[in-house]
Amino acid sequence: MSGADDEGYVPLIDAAAIAPGRNKAFVIQGHEILVCNVDGGFYALHNRCSHAAERLEGGRIRGHCVVCPLHGARFDVRDGRAVTAPARTGIPTYPLRIVDGRVEVRVDPQSSPAST
Ligand code: FES
Repeated sequence: MSGADDEGYVPLIDAAAIAPGRNKAFVIQGHEILVCNVDGGFYALHNRCSHAAERLEGGRIRGHCVVCPLHGARFDVRDGRAVTAPARTGIPTYPLRIVDGRVEVRVDPQSSPAST
């Protein structure tokens, strides 16, 4: 997916299409990104668990964490840090904004997709 504006943000989806407590995955410029709605607040983070690279899409939202569907590690959607084992390392997060009701995410062109 491309179509970034001058600031590098890529429009993805209507915010209303991701209900509170849900998430949805996208690929932007080679980055697998998960957009999470936590009580109406939106966050973007890498869509691969740092433990065994499972995709986090569809993982339950618990508090400010997304739960890995495979072994249950939790990651804080606000900063990507690993909150519970078996994950030991965090995952990248990405700048996100809402413009005219649409979710937009920016991928740092300096960074490369996290290896998994
Ligand atoms: S792959 Fe996510 S906790 Fe193991």
